[in-house]
Amino acid sequence: MKLVCAKDYEDASYIAAKNIYTQMIKKADSVLGLATGSSPVGVYKQLIKWYKIGDLDFSDVTTINLDEYRGINRTDEQSYYFFMQRNLFKHVNIKPSNTYIPNGMEEDCQKACNDYDAIIKKVGRIDLQLLGLGENGHIGFNEPSEAFTGKTHCVDLADSTLLANARFFKSLKDVPKQAYTLGVESIMMAKKIIVIVSGEKKADILKKVLYGPITPLIPASILQVHPDVVIVADEAARSAL
Ligand code: GLP
Repeated sequence: MKLVCAKDYEDASYIAAKNIYTQMIKKADSVLGLATGSSPVGVYKQLIKWYKIGDLDFSDVTTINLDEYRGINRTDEQSYYFFMQRNLFKHVNIKPSNTYIPNGMEEDCQKACNDYDAIIKKVGRIDLQLLGLGENGHIGFNEPSEAFTGKTHCVDLADSTLLANARFFKSLKDVPKQAYTLGVESIMMAKKIIVIVSGEKKADILKKVLYGPITPLIPASILQVHPDVVIVADEAARSAL
């Protein structure tokens, strides 16, 4: 793993965005694995800036999102579908048919997961996966558990995740209790992984992810064995190192 030291959130966002920029310049039809949450918002803002001045072209890019809440409608502002439209897709020339997010409204868990895995298989290997880091060490919605997960599956969200994400909802009880997420195995298949980590709240978990044992109790610790991971962390996130 390579740790890149950024000054603050803005700097971390710029550095992570530059990695995506490089990927898209190298391969116009890149497959990008995308994330939601607060961490990637600055990255998307920077990519939009470069698109608007004509430096980036999304017309041949395909995107695979990590996760989606289960039972949430696409028109719901808190859905990750809505998040992606608002924060990236509607601002760039990506083809809607080239953007994929698990179907949160599919009630049949097995079908939702199988459908998404079929899409991942069809699209091919992710060239660059962007990740945030949950305060409990989760990646996507792969929560701490007894074993690393494989492919797309339905998760019961951890209490700590419900609490951390409550800030986006009216109240804690409005946070969906389940989600569909890419499994750890699918994330690890990406050719390159960029993790953006910002803020003091992530400091303790970042230390464990970087220097602790590899354990499914801290899902992101598996990144230690991926051949090409760049962790971009700002000063606050590095304060426990
Ligand atoms: C969320 C998402 C993750 C995200 C993480 C961190 O629940 N499912 O993909 O990386 O938690 O979120 P944030 O960036 O808001 O701290």
